[in-house]
Amino acid sequence: MPPDLPIIITIDGPAGTGKSSVARALASRLGLDFLDTGAMYRAAAAIVIDHGIPHEDHRAIVEKVRSADLHFDWSMDPPAMLAWDRPINGRIRKPDVTSIVSPISAIPELRAHMVQKQRIIWHQHPRLVSEGRDQGSVVFPDAAVKFYLDADPAERARRRGDQLRAAGLPGDEARLLREIIERDRSDSTRPVGPLVCPPDAVRVDTTRLSFEDVVNRLEDEVRARIAALL
Ligand code: DC
Repeated sequence: MPPDLPIIITIDGPAGTGKSSVARALASRLGLDFLDTGAMYRAAAAIVIDHGIPHEDHRAIVEKVRSADLHFDWSMDPPAMLAWDRPINGRIRKPDVTSIVSPISAIPELRAHMVQKQRIIWHQHPRLVSEGRDQGSVVFPDAAVKFYLDADPAERARRRGDQLRAAGLPGDEARLLREIIERDRSDSTRPVGPLVCPPDAVRVDTTRLSFEDVVNRLEDEVRARIAALL
């Protein structure tokens, strides 16, 4: 990878496809920064809960989120999410946040705010792997390489269950499967920034692939595209 080449790579897909870990590993192999946009929507959901803001009060939600000045501490690996300059990484993965993040992320005014923030981050970090639901379709339509990761819902529930049990938490796979199906439905049917596979994205079904296989596949694709450009 030429060290000064500005490049944006997007990775979108539903929950539980391993996007975050894959994006982080790919960024590390290619010497790029890694942006977890789900963390930004999770931070917004945590703010809504912790400040007791009614879900239907979109104006109050956006105002409070704006006042938090969400940003990342890029000295950490992975970059830590900050609100009001305080790290909130521990808070944003809690089950109460996960349970409301999808409807909160559907608020159009909140999405507009996040899209603007993500583009500012790209100006500050022009060599970026950005991961989410709308990165290739809405935020960075001119990305150099776009990926869409997918996997069978049952396999995604199994992986989430493994992760939770490894963290010492209960991982009821039947419940996880119901939640995954509901989150897919909610993320892909919202009117603004829905989860879609952009027509120009490379779609990778990870159901039967190991983590290493997926990262290798993406790295090979990026290196081939860059080589063709130079
Ligand atoms: O990737 P994740 O599970 O941390 O994402 C949390 C939620 O945020 C998910 O339900 C959808 C939403 N999200 C979004 O709407 N747009 C993004 N770019 C990233 C996440």
